[in-house]
Amino acid sequence: MTQFHAHRWIILALLLGAVAAVAGGVYRLGYRQALDSLAERSAADLALASDRVTTQLQVYQELAVLMADHPTLKRLDRAEARMAAQGLLREVADKTAALDVFFVDRAGRVVVAAEGVMGRDVTQSSYFHRAMQGALGTGYGVLQPDGRRAYIYAAPDFDVDGRVRGALVVVADVEDVEQTWRGSLPAVFFTNRGGEVFIANRRELLFWQRSAEGPGLSPPDGRQVALRAWMEGPHEIWDLRWSPYLPERALHQAVNLPQIGMVGEILVDVAPAQRLAGLQAAAMAAIVLALGAMLALALERRRTLAEANTVLESRVAARTRALSATNMRLTREVQERQEAEAALKRAQQDLVQAGKLSALGQMSAGISHELNQPLMAIQQYAENGEAFVARGKPERAGENLGRISQMAGRMARIIKNLRAFARNESEPMGRVDLGQVIASAIELTEPRLRQDRVDLIWQPPAEPVYAWGGEVRLSQVFVNLINNAADAMLEQEQREIHIAIETREGEGGARLAVSVRDIGPGLKEPEKIFDPFYSTKAVGSSEGMGLGLSISYGLVQSFGGHIRGVNTGDGAEFTVELDRWRAQGGTDTQQQDEVA
Ligand SMILES: Nc1ncnc2c1ncn2[C@@H]1O[C@H](COP(=O)(O)OP(=O)(O)OP(=O)(O)O)[C@@H](O)[C@H]1O
Ligand SMILES: [Mg+2]
Repeated sequence: MTQFHAHRWIILALLLGAVAAVAGGVYRLGYRQALDSLAERSAADLALASDRVTTQLQVYQELAVLMADHPTLKRLDRAEARMAAQGLLREVADKTAALDVFFVDRAGRVVVAAEGVMGRDVTQSSYFHRAMQGALGTGYGVLQPDGRRAYIYAAPDFDVDGRVRGALVVVADVEDVEQTWRGSLPAVFFTNRGGEVFIANRRELLFWQRSAEGPGLSPPDGRQVALRAWMEGPHEIWDLRWSPYLPERALHQAVNLPQIGMVGEILVDVAPAQRLAGLQAAAMAAIVLALGAMLALALERRRTLAEANTVLESRVAARTRALSATNMRLTREVQERQEAEAALKRAQQDLVQAGKLSALGQMSAGISHELNQPLMAIQQYAENGEAFVARGKPERAGENLGRISQMAGRMARIIKNLRAFARNESEPMGRVDLGQVIASAIELTEPRLRQDRVDLIWQPPAEPVYAWGGEVRLSQVFVNLINNAADAMLEQEQREIHIAIETREGEGGARLAVSVRDIGPGLKEPEKIFDPFYSTKAVGSSEGMGLGLSISYGLVQSFGGHIRGVNTGDGAEFTVELDRWRAQGGTDTQQQDEVA
């Protein structure tokens, strides 16, 4: 968030900087251009004002030149002539509004004057000396005592042989000249050779003195006035705060006027130029700001998009991490599951083996009896045979030997079955002759059934019926079912077990069903019989671990078959359903036939 703000501020600062730079540049350029046109106009104004002053003074110059030759002024030695001359001069002065018109002789004495404002002696005046040299003399000054400013022209008067006889002097009233353009804008003033403001259209500037060093003026009363002056390109700018009638900041121009021996100067307000430049700069700033804002918006949009993208990417990364973690966990769980399955399989195998051994243990008494009987018989037959040989009756001895051989064969068959049953090895699945399997189960349980006087009703099939399974394991199932049925009927007089094979048609093809039915009391809790360690037989005794049916269930299921137990009303019936064996691909390589 803070990063976001910092970013914004930087963009804003950059934008403002750019705006300021552009506006500044535009202002300078616009100001310079405005000053150029202002300077052009003010130069024209100054020229106009200068022309006006010089032409107005020119009138007095021409008056002096013309009047110098006037015949009335030729002979002034007599009093009447002087009276007449004075009358003429007075008339001229009145008509031209000159302050004074007078004639001086070579000695500088005023011979005749209209007013006599200059006193009686002008020998000290420069205009007089100039006129005595035969040239037009000019001068200016302030008349005493009334303080009027006067501009003076002195025209020489020559006698017949061309020598300067005297001079006619015209004293012009400067205020009169100013009268026509006073107060008009802009401020124009004329400084004399001494650097003093002598003529001005602003009264307050009169008699100000040009500074000895640098530009600017200072007032005659010795006050210090502020002035800052600098060049704006070719233009001289004065920063002055002198009077309300003068601009605060002005363009200063000057023009030399040798005809009247003065310098004309003008001060033009630069405020309009500043305003114009300011307007231009403001307009440009607005444009740049608008553009900048648009740019900033575009950048902001892009940045927001990039941020959203980053967030999305980090989310995707987090999700990916979570998924791969889950994946790893699942893999681990699968592995654990597989290990558990393997352990279960091992346990099941152990259980099968335990079940078999337990069954063998139960049957051991019967089996030993079963083996003992033929053994006793063999002993008897052997003794008989020996006796017959001793008596010289070899054919009877041979008969006995034949019996012995029969007995031994029977024992071998019983032992073979027991060995196969007890063998703890994984037996391949394949074709199993159901009749054979049931026969071997009956053979294993026969001693016990005989001992307990249980009738077993069983009709072996005429032709072999083949099922899909493992021979030894399947016979274990039937051994268990027969033993359970026999156990159930121990308490009653009549004991019968019925075994039958039938063929059923199911969805997956033909199925074979073997039923083992008894006439005992039936199942007490049919839903529990396949649970491991569920037994109603005396706990701790050799009979009744509660494993027989649960092992059988697992075995039948491993063949793809099904086992279930129900009460028929007369007793219990167990049905083992198996797939019928079918030759695959025309060869029997996969199918094992152990019952050959
Ligand atoms: N034919 C039957 N009639 C009545 N009850 C039966 C029958 N077969 C099984 N049962 C009941 O089911 C129980 C479980 O049988 P199972 O064969 O699993 O164990 P068991 O016979 O008690 O012990 P063992 O592990 O030695 O076989 C028996 O204890 C019995 O109560
Ligand atoms: Mg049992």
